[in-house]
Amino acid sequence: MRVLIIGSGGREHALAWKLGQSREKPDILVAPGNGGTARDARNAAMPPGGIDRLMEFIRAHKVDFVIPGTELPLVNGIVDACTCAGVLCFGPAAYAARLEGSKSFAKEIMREAGVPTADFAVFNDYATAEKYVRDRKRPLAVKADGLAAGKGVIMAAGAEDAVAALRGMMLEKQFGPAGETVVIEDALAGEEVSLLAVCRDETLVLLPTAQDHKRALDGDRGLNTGGMGAYSPAPVLPECRMGEIADSMMLPVLKTMKKRGVPYSGVLYAGLMLTADGPKVLEFNVRFGDPECQALLMRFKGDLLELMVDCARGRLSGASHAAGTKRILQADDCAGGRQGDAALGSGSTTHPDFALNAPQASAGDTSSRLCSPDWTDETALCVVVAAEGYPGEYRKGMTVEGIEAAEARVPGKIKVFHAGTVAEQGKVLASGGRVLGVTALGASLREAQERAYAAVADIRIEHTFFRRDIGGRGLKAADSASGASGPYPERPDTVRGGRRPSLAGSNGSGT
Ligand code: AMP
Ligand code: GLY
Repeated sequence: MRVLIIGSGGREHALAWKLGQSREKPDILVAPGNGGTARDARNAAMPPGGIDRLMEFIRAHKVDFVIPGTELPLVNGIVDACTCAGVLCFGPAAYAARLEGSKSFAKEIMREAGVPTADFAVFNDYATAEKYVRDRKRPLAVKADGLAAGKGVIMAAGAEDAVAALRGMMLEKQFGPAGETVVIEDALAGEEVSLLAVCRDETLVLLPTAQDHKRALDGDRGLNTGGMGAYSPAPVLPECRMGEIADSMMLPVLKTMKKRGVPYSGVLYAGLMLTADGPKVLEFNVRFGDPECQALLMRFKGDLLELMVDCARGRLSGASHAAGTKRILQADDCAGGRQGDAALGSGSTTHPDFALNAPQASAGDTSSRLCSPDWTDETALCVVVAAEGYPGEYRKGMTVEGIEAAEARVPGKIKVFHAGTVAEQGKVLASGGRVLGVTALGASLREAQERAYAAVADIRIEHTFFRRDIGGRGLKAADSASGASGPYPERPDTVRGGRRPSLAGSNGSGT
């Protein structure tokens, strides 16, 4: 089977690497790919232009199965075009991809489906929006309705900040047409966690939890980025609580999409805020997260190609990974009520600062919520090494060295996923904002963190930085729930071997 992965990030490298392990032995093309996919798969130049050009490319390369890594081709209708052409494609149709492509559409669906989310209002007139934020008198999230490369959300502490954000989006057209309509939400406080599922129609195959680190700098400071690191599982959301979240926040969306005549297919990614009033959905994405995907796939032991093909073919419920002996998570599985699930091993505990009182699903609903057992109980943690300046203007062209040494440090437990790199004449050069995702498995979150940072220390790239506190919130959550007061790892990169990484500018300043 010839598979085409569309994209060039760490997520696409992780997909290519894991799909390459399939029993099917697929021939994997990545367009445009990066330095890592050039090694673990084959790269192909991406044709410039829209979906029509992409379809010509797909036909010319005799692709059997298309996997868009990023949201843009999905929102632009690649699944619809492939369906017309008789080519299998993983992901939702364009209408359903609007769950990510339009924040007002996502909110409308959430409202219709009864999914808990922040209170909000939608505006396409600047004066009315300004009046709303001045009257609202509380911290707000001001969001460009359309796709804005992860930059379209501005948190505003006061009215003046919110007005400035509105001006930028609606009057100065900072995000082009994406900001002509805005969604203004009440700001929620709590811990964020991501819950992803491979979905088809009304069936969900839940993936384990993951936690992203969206801000550029340590301590969640600095600008929002695509993600500076992730780990899975996230102790803030114990495995035994996942089922009720799927039932109250994901399944209702699948049912609503079906009711609207466009059954959902592909990954549904719920970005959640665990608030004092229970979990609420911040956003839906219609693809794997990056870098959550790197951490998740490091833990996946099953046949990813089989899972994705079955989803695209509409055979998810009958598939071997989702039927029969698989563990179906239920709230009752939670030994000791709201305590952690032993299957998660390290630090699987509830956080004392928020409630997980999601509305209960109706009895009998759990048949459509299946959890694949094909995951290692180990924790995976991914540290993103980014070019100085990211998420703004950043430097390029630096030589990347030390990847083999990093991966050899603990064989089979460390994988360096490339993101913004190119392979040129036997060398790897940095070419993007997020350059690498250094990912490690460990028996505990602490061990995964130590291994990942030790591996980062093996890598040499000038003019890059990384966050030093990836996984720190998870350790804190686990420690506070267990009553322990473990040391907060201020400089985890020096934990093992005492070596400072030779990453210039690695003081986490991001500049
Ligand atoms: P979104 O693309 O909607 O997920 O927003 C990006 C990031 O902005 C989220 O991961 C949160 O960190 C933050 N955010 C979005 N909406 C809210 C909200 N209502 N309250 C607090 N933070 C938010
Ligand atoms: N890491 C967040 C995202 O992929 O949207």
